[in-house]
Amino acid sequence: MDTKQSLAALIAETIENCYMGIDGLPTAEEIGGYLEIPPQKEMGDYAFPCFKLSRALRMGPPQIASTLAGAIDAGDLCEAKQQGGYLNFFLNRDNFAQKTLDNVLAAGESYGADTMGEGKTVCIDYSSINIAKRFHIGHLSTTMLGHSLGRIFRHLGYKTVGINHLGDWGTQFGKLIYAFKTWGNEAEVEEKGVPELTRLYVKFHEEAEKDPTLDDEGRRWFKAIEDGDEEALRLFNWFKDLTLRDAKPVYDMLGVEFDSYNGESFYVDKTDRVVNELREKNLLTLSEGASVVDLDEENSGMPPCLILKKDGTTIYATRDIAAALYRKETYDFDKCLYVVAYQQDLHFRQFFKVIEKMGYDWAKDLKHVAFGMISVGGQSLSTRKGHVLFLEDVLNTAIQKAREIIDEKSPDLENKDEVAKQVGIGAVVYADLQNGRIKDIDFTWERVLSFDGETGPYVQYTHARCCSALRKAEGLEEAAIDYSALGDDFAQELLRQLSRFPDAVKEAALRYEPSIITRAVTELCKAYNKFYYENRIIVDEAGVRAARIALTRAVKNTIKTGLYLIGIEAPERM
Ligand code: ARG
Repeated sequence: MDTKQSLAALIAETIENCYMGIDGLPTAEEIGGYLEIPPQKEMGDYAFPCFKLSRALRMGPPQIASTLAGAIDAGDLCEAKQQGGYLNFFLNRDNFAQKTLDNVLAAGESYGADTMGEGKTVCIDYSSINIAKRFHIGHLSTTMLGHSLGRIFRHLGYKTVGINHLGDWGTQFGKLIYAFKTWGNEAEVEEKGVPELTRLYVKFHEEAEKDPTLDDEGRRWFKAIEDGDEEALRLFNWFKDLTLRDAKPVYDMLGVEFDSYNGESFYVDKTDRVVNELREKNLLTLSEGASVVDLDEENSGMPPCLILKKDGTTIYATRDIAAALYRKETYDFDKCLYVVAYQQDLHFRQFFKVIEKMGYDWAKDLKHVAFGMISVGGQSLSTRKGHVLFLEDVLNTAIQKAREIIDEKSPDLENKDEVAKQVGIGAVVYADLQNGRIKDIDFTWERVLSFDGETGPYVQYTHARCCSALRKAEGLEEAAIDYSALGDDFAQELLRQLSRFPDAVKEAALRYEPSIITRAVTELCKAYNKFYYENRIIVDEAGVRAARIALTRAVKNTIKTGLYLIGIEAPERM
């Protein structure tokens, strides 16, 4: 049990003793959820808001607080004081230090892990790149948010299924086949890959502007894919392979993997069932020749969800409905997350609503994990206009810059290339997961390549600093820890940051918000660096030394775990 849980148990017991037999008293677990961290230090380390009991006890909060303060037997855990309607707790510093360190060190790198997700599965639809397009900076957020959420949920005991819902269906692939057959050549496409496909696609649009009959050609080839024409399928699958081959180095650099690459085309033959079911359930209506599901626009504010176009073909939403049904049946998920930019908000709300109208109560478990737009130097991105930044280039530039800094600052480092890679990529990923996800990001090289202040390299550097201190401690006598040596404000602040980490992990999962962990780890680093400037770690006094080493080890483990959860490596030297 950590300090907070011990406190919650103590409060629950005291309430039980004082108000035995009354209905509706909270459990220790509920109390843990009510415990607050007061805004000012003078108000203690934790506060229990007694108004949470007012209704069950039919009493004012101050009266309850006063009764509990008189009755509580906190031993050496803390001191409890009534302040207004609150019961404030002032932790016994030695005891808090011991409990926190015991907890962190016993857990090792699984600190903050939990069993709350046991037996539950979370599907995470993320990255979901589009065929024949290069991996650009606009796909960084979905990729890293999804990757991080996967690690966070697994840390909490959930099983996760990472799905790259490839954008591999639509008339554009017919156009691409036409363009390839008209202006392309096999060897060149094989060699240059996706950039060549992009060139052909752009060429198609230029030519189609002069000669609109080309669009018919594109449609004809798309129909050929739909009908399973051998040549059309061969080319289509080849384009797909080329795209995945192009994305692979980026995924490798980021350490990102998927359990499934079932994209839109996988669901095409599963849409009939959706259409039939919608028809049977009387949800389909005709609107100007197209089939739609009416969503009661007046109340919901949502226009009808298009299911079949006039020509009887399905759309993005139809395939997403088929995918959701398939995922529920295949994985029996507890939650299915869609990590997709907020511009698609309406699409998700619409098709979630359709699933709800179909009578599936699990529609509530579908979550659009939206995130803000990324612009570059204040300009929004556009492949057509050529304003793009390819992720591979961004990562390589960051790695190169890290390498320069290492050459300058740590010329003797052994595995410079590897560390440069970890640090450069860490810088890019950190910048992406630093703020709340809904916030728009303006990508600037300056920000991503800055290694000072609140950045990935700063956090990694703090980890390396801990490792270095621990290396110096190797071989020294291991004395019993003198916990009273950790009673000062710096050490206590550090312990507080450590003790909050498990809650940060849970909150990050609850709110689908990895930035909560980024922030927790950053605050931990700041607290450690302050502590480090105030104190030498390797001192003569054995008990004090043991205490500082234990604290350093706890910090090191927690930074490493935190970085892991947001998808960043933690080099031991840099
Ligand atoms: N391929 C789409 C895009 O890049 C994202 C797909 C998201 N997932 C989904 N199930 N709709 O915009």
